[in-house]
Amino acid sequence: MSSPMPIPAAITAVQGHLPDDVLSNAELAELVDTSDAWITERTGIKERRILKGEGLGTSHMGAEAVRKLLHKTGTKPGEIDLLICATTTPDFVFPSTANLICDMVGIRNIGSFDVQAACSGFIYAVTIAQQFIGTGMYRKIIVVGADKMSTIIDYTDRATCVLFGDGAGAVMIEPSPNGYGILDTLIRSDGAGMPHLHQKAGGSRLPPSAETVAKRMHYVHQEGAAVYKFAIARMAEVSTELMIRNNLRADMIDWLVPHQANRRIIEATAERMSLPMDKVMVTIHKYGNTTAATIPLCLWDYEAQLVPGNRLILAAFGGGFTWGGTYMTWAYDGAAAAAKSNGAAPPR
Ligand code: ACO
Repeated sequence: MSSPMPIPAAITAVQGHLPDDVLSNAELAELVDTSDAWITERTGIKERRILKGEGLGTSHMGAEAVRKLLHKTGTKPGEIDLLICATTTPDFVFPSTANLICDMVGIRNIGSFDVQAACSGFIYAVTIAQQFIGTGMYRKIIVVGADKMSTIIDYTDRATCVLFGDGAGAVMIEPSPNGYGILDTLIRSDGAGMPHLHQKAGGSRLPPSAETVAKRMHYVHQEGAAVYKFAIARMAEVSTELMIRNNLRADMIDWLVPHQANRRIIEATAERMSLPMDKVMVTIHKYGNTTAATIPLCLWDYEAQLVPGNRLILAAFGGGFTWGGTYMTWAYDGAAAAAKSNGAAPPR
């Protein structure tokens, strides 16, 4: 007997949340030996958001995004079947940030869990959600991408502190209302990439101690040039693989939605796909690299420009190494949805 056709899944709503505090390049130049000119030229970043406030972790931003998503879509917390949170900066080792977000927004008695795939986390989580919709097991899933990167960034290290910011984005994933939705998705990893991008201490291999703290081993360690090369190669590879598998020419793609790590990485990926930059979503200048939040924040930022049937390729690369991509057709009228954001629209 042949297995039943999977039920097509679609993103049916998107919402972001950014903390109010802005950290500009000029302020960073007061902390480390850098300049607005260097950061702008090498990364494209002008400013990023930082979550301040005692006791506020990644869950705070994730819960804000989910609360606004529920409000925007007129969904009651009790209607949600599953919540997945992609994050590299969970509030605690345990319980999961997804558990905390559910509690904060009044979602009870459903499954919720975190996904750890660094900057590719959102693509991983969307891929997982698609499987639950595909089998018919669940009908309303929220996927959150949220990171408070400022907690693991060394603000004495000029090579990393200029890159990252805090933020959260959330999407609703449901059975496709009209045939549009997620058509193909792939996730990849290579653990041999660990030395180039990781947090040296704080896990079970090297638990926190006075020595690890004194040696500043709880911050992001990145070999920028190596990561840069892998990021371009893998994001372009995954995007072209999706194009070949789905018989897509460059002129058929309406939007590339790339992970926002560095404007030059984004431009190089677009160039390898033969896509002009006016078909590429870019938010890095105002939010920096928010790790798992970059892609949902892009979708939120550009929501008003998205129309049903638009062809999107999402692509990400991150620590692990991990990478992945998703090909989807947009399933709803973005302008109409964005108009309903009730004061929770992206900052301009
Ligand atoms: N201001 C001024 N100078 C700087 C700064 C700074 N903020 N940072 C580094 N430099 C200096 C370096 O010290 C070096 O000086 P030297 O030649 O005297 O040694 C010089 O600039 C050039 O350094 P490079 O590292 O070669 O600079 P590059 O052009 O590669 O840019 C950057 C560095 C921006 C980090 C880039 O390599 C990059 O974007 N890498 C990828 C980051 C990324 O994609 N991360 C992805 C995922 S993150 C995650 O998963 C958590």
